[in-house]
Amino acid sequence: LFSAVEMAPRDPILGLNEQFNADTNPKKVNLGVGVYYDDNGKLPLLECVRAAEKQMMEAPKARGYLPIDGIAAYDAAVQGLVFGADSEPVKGKRVATVQALGGTGGLKIGADFLKRISPSAKVLISDPSWENHRALFTNAGFTVETYAYYDAARRGINFDGMLTALNQAAEGTIVVLHACCHNPTGYDLTPAQWDQVVAATKAKKLVPFLDMAYQGFGSGIAEDGAVIGKFVASGQDFFVSTSFSKSFSLYGERVGALSVLCASAEEASRVLSQLKIVIRTNYSNPPTHGGQVVATVLNTPALRAQWEEELAGMRQRIKQMRVALVEKLKAAGVKQDMSFIAQQVGMFSYSGLSKDQMVRLRSEFGVYGVDSGRICVAALNSKNIDYVCESIAKVVG
Ligand code: LMR
Repeated sequence: LFSAVEMAPRDPILGLNEQFNADTNPKKVNLGVGVYYDDNGKLPLLECVRAAEKQMMEAPKARGYLPIDGIAAYDAAVQGLVFGADSEPVKGKRVATVQALGGTGGLKIGADFLKRISPSAKVLISDPSWENHRALFTNAGFTVETYAYYDAARRGINFDGMLTALNQAAEGTIVVLHACCHNPTGYDLTPAQWDQVVAATKAKKLVPFLDMAYQGFGSGIAEDGAVIGKFVASGQDFFVSTSFSKSFSLYGERVGALSVLCASAEEASRVLSQLKIVIRTNYSNPPTHGGQVVATVLNTPALRAQWEEELAGMRQRIKQMRVALVEKLKAAGVKQDMSFIAQQVGMFSYSGLSKDQMVRLRSEFGVYGVDSGRICVAALNSKNIDYVCESIAKVVG
């Protein structure tokens, strides 16, 4: 049965973890996967999470099946965070939200649902994008192409190219957009550029699918979510996937969501019924723990305030690391101007290093980043940053 099964390539991001774990170099540093570590190099357990779990332990509950679409209080909290609890779409019940297995799960539920309702649509992702966007939509049966995004020469966004691609896309094309903290480049659109993107997707009748995996890691929770309000105001139907992996440091709990904004409450209830079929036929219903933790934090004012503070702390530390990285690369002898790193936002920096240089960083120095040149700035700390900068200086010459 399996004699003809081919060996699949390693995942370009998660596969690096396997290689990193097997590396015996005592100085190794993992800047591959998008995970936030504190200044001691430790994965944080947020205080708000600890407090919510304590509450849950004090009143333990039996673990029945959750509804197919997840914990109602969780879905409501997601809607509040993404759209605003008092927003018109939430009050008017125009949003269908389901709990999902991380942001990836939200994307997958959305992709499978879209394949049912728009089987011949194409998908456009940014060039470059998170590696899994292409794989995920391809595996859902779509043809995936790209819209221009990164401009290496200008160290920024090829916005004209992006708009041209959107304006040339056929009606019904699904456009995957990074709501904030673009992964992998770290370059986000300005509010004025977003206005133009929103106008283009509306004029061309495209289907926006916003991936919001890093809300709170750019400028703030509201600031990073502002783009949602622009799409709502434009009167378009659209999709939003949410991830709490990073913002709650709950990577292993797989807590995320998919929200679909519909034209009416009646339409949203029909859409929800279809999303539930996608879920039921994939994994039946979501797990209880992570969703309950997030719902408890978001729905308890004191814990929510604590979360916002802890998230701000992570955001600020990343910014400090960006500034330090620019200074220390220069001090280590890197001639080229690396100040762009401090202008990028979110967890990642597209460093401009070539694949060969990334491979050398890994094999000679045990510094792991993605072959594309992406490094996770959120994994730098005051103890490993000098070594990382010296290693980069050696490979860039
Ligand atoms: C990343 O881009 O590193 C993260 O989103 C983790 C993942 O699942 O790839």
